Amino acid sequence: MGSAAPIAGDVVLTARNVAKSYGNIDALKGVNFDIRAGRVTTLFGENGAGKSTLMKILSGVIRPTSGAIELRGEPVVFSSSSDARDRGISIIHQELSLAPNLSVRDNIFMGREIGGPAGIDFAEEARQAAALMAELEEHIDPMTPVEELRLGQQQIIEIARALSVDSRILIMDEPTSALSASEVEVLFKVIRDLTARGVAIVYISHHLEEALEITDYAVVLRDGAMTAKADRADIDLDWIVRNMVGEGYDLGAPPTGYPFGAVALSVRGVSVADKAGHGAMAVDNVSLDVRAGEIVCIYGLMGAGRTELLECVFGKGSKVSGEVWLEGREISRLGIAERIAGGLALVPEDRQRDGLVQTMSVGENLSLASIAAFVKGLLLSRPAERRVVDDSIRAVTVKTSGPAAAIGSLSGGNQQKVVIGKMLGTHPRVIMLDEPSRGIDIGAKAEVFRILAERARAGLAVVFSTSEVSECLSIAHRVVVMSRGRISAEFGHDVTKEQIMAASGEAVAA
Ligand SMILES: Nc1ncnc2c1ncn2[C@@H]1O[C@H](COP(=O)(O)OP(=O)(O)OP(=O)(O)O)[C@@H](O)[C@H]1O
Ligand SMILES: [Mg+2]
Repeated sequence: MGSAAPIAGDVVLTARNVAKSYGNIDALKGVNFDIRAGRVTTLFGENGAGKSTLMKILSGVIRPTSGAIELRGEPVVFSSSSDARDRGISIIHQELSLAPNLSVRDNIFMGREIGGPAGIDFAEEARQAAALMAELEEHIDPMTPVEELRLGQQQIIEIARALSVDSRILIMDEPTSALSASEVEVLFKVIRDLTARGVAIVYISHHLEEALEITDYAVVLRDGAMTAKADRADIDLDWIVRNMVGEGYDLGAPPTGYPFGAVALSVRGVSVADKAGHGAMAVDNVSLDVRAGEIVCIYGLMGAGRTELLECVFGKGSKVSGEVWLEGREISRLGIAERIAGGLALVPEDRQRDGLVQTMSVGENLSLASIAAFVKGLLLSRPAERRVVDDSIRAVTVKTSGPAAAIGSLSGGNQQKVVIGKMLGTHPRVIMLDEPSRGIDIGAKAEVFRILAERARAGLAVVFSTSEVSECLSIAHRVVVMSRGRISAEFGHDVTKEQIMAASGEAVAA
């Protein structure tokens, strides 16, 4: 093996005709893929295209069914992910793998503790953790338990853990799905520093425009095969979309031609305390009415209070004051189970923690049995239940081998669709979705919006939150902008991108 350091642009890791099958599912069908020193290679593709599978193979997490891997031109077989890590390859996984009750420091050094003369050198670990937080411009005390952090911050801890290993090849599988715009900017700065030092990066994201910004080489996977690759200079957004899905996409328009019904959800003067304490309010005196058939989009940056508001309406978190009414009935003092039984549903932001039961199958997760824990006295016959499951799988177009498949075998985006299908299965009167498009591809996103528009037309009141302006401009009849816990503006569906961004406190690019 050549010992000279590779020159920027040199291929350092190669997948040669790599295939991976799970039973009769061909996740990868013979893919050739190059990773180059000092460059960012971006992998695009729809949910279930095989992106994570390819990355897990290249980082030693799983073995290919056939095909070979070459590290700097030499054939190599990784026995495990730590074997790959020892050879300089790290991966930031799409699904967070942190231990919630451990501190930031302990999560970063889990399994790779820094030894000192008297056992683990905790002080040195804390020092390095603090330095990583500073590099990522995140003001988090290394001793904070991870469960106290919001999702985006947890994602940053995941990134910090990968950075703490001095890797030559760093794979980032959807690292920004829960990050705010400014956090993404910091990450991009870190990526540029790494590539300047010759580190090879693989980047995966469904935020296509954002990803294009950092891309040097683009590769598109579709149904387990590579459909296109190109230099950044030769491509644009349209090229990616065309190669991903074979056509353009459309996030839809607000459904029209029917009158809204009565107020289905009424939020009156609700305030929620900030988790971090300091006496601050995460939600500060918010009032909002949503009518049956109406679709309301809540736009806001990370930390604007959207999640806290939706969770509070659902009966989670610590409400300080205010009332919540569902179809003319005050539900402020009801538990979550009673709210669901009354017709309220929430698709949570963090599907890993709140949305899915990881030990259950796809079918079990979609069935009402999985929410029986919340809803007592909900009886359903077996055939009726099977129908709910089949309908849900079809309605949200989950790509799965069937209801018996393990939930962990679904791609990230398909897991998200299961959560949405499950909530629709409770036949809600009001559905709230917190960042429903997190981790799902543009085709699936359009599909989810189409389903919501259809349900709204049938009388469902829909509230969804987003941090992507393009989503506000889709099916929403009304756009509510939140900033620092308050509603800072309200618009009709004819709102412009600039108006939304100005109201959210975001700088509008000139
Ligand atoms: N452990 C497994 N068992 C069975 N099937 C699996 C397993 N892991 C992945 N698959 C299947 O392989 C295919 C590719 O999945 P993969 O996770 O690589 O997709 P992806 O491109 O990363 O999608 P996403 O954008 O949703 O993350 C999917 O059809 C998925 O269901
Ligand atoms: Mg994936």
